[in-house]
Amino acid sequence: MSKNYKRTLVTCALPYANGPVHIGHLAGVYVPADIYVRYLRMRGEDVLYVCGSDEHGVPITIKARQQGCTPQDIVDKYHKIIKDSFTGLGINFDIYGRTSSEVHDKNASEFFRKLYDEGKFVTKESEQYYDPEAKTFLADRYIVGTCPKCGAEGAYGDQCEKCGSTLSPEELINPKSKLSGAEPIKKKTSHWYLPLDQYEKWLSEWILDGHKEWRSNVYGQCKSWIDGGLQPRAVSRDLDWGVPVPVEGAEGKVLYVWFDAPIGYISNTQELLPNSWNKWWKSEDTKLVHFIGKDNIVFHCIVFPSMLKAYGDGYILPDNVPSNEFLNLEGDKISTSRNWAVWAHEYLEQFPGKEDVMRYVLTANAPETKDNDFSWKDFQTRNNSELVAIFGNFVNRAVVLTHKYFGGKVPACGELLDVDKEALAEIPVLRASLEKNIEGYHFREALKDAMSIARVGNKYISDTEPWKVAKTDMDRTATILNVCMQICADLAIAFEPFTPFAAEKLRKMLGVCVCAGVDHRKGEQETVNTYKEGEGAALHTVSADAPQPASACPGNGKCVCLSWDMLGKTDIIAAGHEVGAAELLFAKIEDDAIQAQLDRLDTIRAEREAAAKAEAAKVVAPQKDECSFEDFEKMDIRTATVLEAERVPKTDKLLKLTIDTGIDKRTIVSGIAEYYTPEEMVGKQICILANLAPRKIRGIESKGMILMARQGDGKMRFVTPQETLANGAQIG
Ligand code: MF3
Ligand code: ZN
Repeated sequence: MSKNYKRTLVTCALPYANGPVHIGHLAGVYVPADIYVRYLRMRGEDVLYVCGSDEHGVPITIKARQQGCTPQDIVDKYHKIIKDSFTGLGINFDIYGRTSSEVHDKNASEFFRKLYDEGKFVTKESEQYYDPEAKTFLADRYIVGTCPKCGAEGAYGDQCEKCGSTLSPEELINPKSKLSGAEPIKKKTSHWYLPLDQYEKWLSEWILDGHKEWRSNVYGQCKSWIDGGLQPRAVSRDLDWGVPVPVEGAEGKVLYVWFDAPIGYISNTQELLPNSWNKWWKSEDTKLVHFIGKDNIVFHCIVFPSMLKAYGDGYILPDNVPSNEFLNLEGDKISTSRNWAVWAHEYLEQFPGKEDVMRYVLTANAPETKDNDFSWKDFQTRNNSELVAIFGNFVNRAVVLTHKYFGGKVPACGELLDVDKEALAEIPVLRASLEKNIEGYHFREALKDAMSIARVGNKYISDTEPWKVAKTDMDRTATILNVCMQICADLAIAFEPFTPFAAEKLRKMLGVCVCAGVDHRKGEQETVNTYKEGEGAALHTVSADAPQPASACPGNGKCVCLSWDMLGKTDIIAAGHEVGAAELLFAKIEDDAIQAQLDRLDTIRAEREAAAKAEAAKVVAPQKDECSFEDFEKMDIRTATVLEAERVPKTDKLLKLTIDTGIDKRTIVSGIAEYYTPEEMVGKQICILANLAPRKIRGIESKGMILMARQGDGKMRFVTPQETLANGAQIG
């Protein structure tokens, strides 16, 4: 199935600019994509890495309304937060554009217009909800009412957030417009539809026959959509935020956000490379890979490809659409509206210098084949016992000892013993596995391979004990540390995709770089870094106009440059090369930092539970069936006073009360111990149903029943006359 491509175009789902990104987004889309891109770049491949904010759609208009500002204010705010979060985590797109940009507006408009002119759409009239007061059509999200499934108030026309049911506005009880509170009416409107049914056969051949290698979740979703029969899909909406439909008589209509957003990938490429973008989108030599979350599958595999197919003009289709399942947080579904998330920008503030730790943990726990869980304890353990104790520890020992015994110069390698050869032989094997895993989009497994290289190093230095050998045999010590330095260089290569900050720190320590990669941010140029067998990482000069991520190069263009091809070679760093001072790659994360996060989540959970309780308290039970006056008259309800109260032994809920009913003194057993202590009850005037047939409860005869008021959440209070009366006063 693998074709001979010349370049790779990697896109990441454009995040909605209506909130910050959280660890679920990162684990699902951006970290895996970044690993993939960094890996290809280390290999010297020509890669373009495109993303940007998705700035249209109804949720953005709703957020603006809530906050009393314009949609543009909202997208400006979140575009910046999101963009900075990516940069902070080392996710450096070649371009991070915006769908509110002019280029995109023009582009999306033109795209629609061509399909329109060529008759690729069908138009359909339908009845849509309309707000007669605000004089505007209402998106499903703009209609609220009572959920028909769970009875919750404030359910949206597309979904109830309380019980999670998918709804349609028709199903809501008492629907109201969010804009004016008016009851929405139905009104005729017409829209353009992309007749997906016409593309069904083609999609089936392309995906179901042609891409059996796609991840099973992706393939499975496509299959069920196609097998279920595709329907025409509306590509316009009655809304005032978005790309206006470029057709006469389409006032008040914009392109549906899922029509314009994927075109954003193309617009952003054009913005970066106005002269050569075609090559990335219209050449069969380009491998297109879309990284997305599972809720985006249908749009990237069915809708967008059909749009491109309809458009023609040589647009390529994705070679793969790696899509992840969802990440949970501490066992609960991540939710923006419930504030149940770890936000990228907050993490970066609270854990400065630990960008790699999050990347590492999210990769190690990536929800690749099933939903997975993020927990702070696991985060701490992975940092302390993997990154610190294995990777960091090995590098530190190797570099410190090289300074101690050889003044920081890589010592010469003498004759290799079996123990050396065995350690070195493991690395090409791990490299092969790592490559296979990354190229097959199995990033968790790939990370394990990289970590195994660190384990090899850590074990090697523990087994060979150069600090002991140095007392008797400096030649042997030299060989051991030479081997260690090669393994350090291996790690600087292998971890570049996963933990780029640590890899860079390590390269600085080793006095090497990776500066000859291709970096399109610097313009429309390409240089490819190749490794020549036998030359190792000799000092070379990078041409002045070659793009250099300056931070990665300690040598101002004259440098020892690592590339992927060197991984597993035994001569990466030559003897005599000078190594910098040892620095710790990773620091231990203490319990208090983790506890602070757990406390924050506990607070959110407690607030949510309190809010849910308050909601439940308001739920009113429906009225009972009618009863006659005679029915009512049968009940003898009176005042009484509690004389004594004690718990019924071995029960949680029951109190045994002795009461003065005015008629007699008697015993009542009542299930109120959850709400009142015996002390609280003594002396209180209550109301009772006096003539209830006696019952035995726990062996005690109970005569009558205390009248209690019970609210929706189950909380109970006894009923008492507004002013103390004589006992035995009749109520009715
Ligand atoms: N904004 C969408 C989401 O977050 C993704 C859009 S991807 C694109 O789910 F292809 F439409 F751009
Ligand atoms: Zn509901």
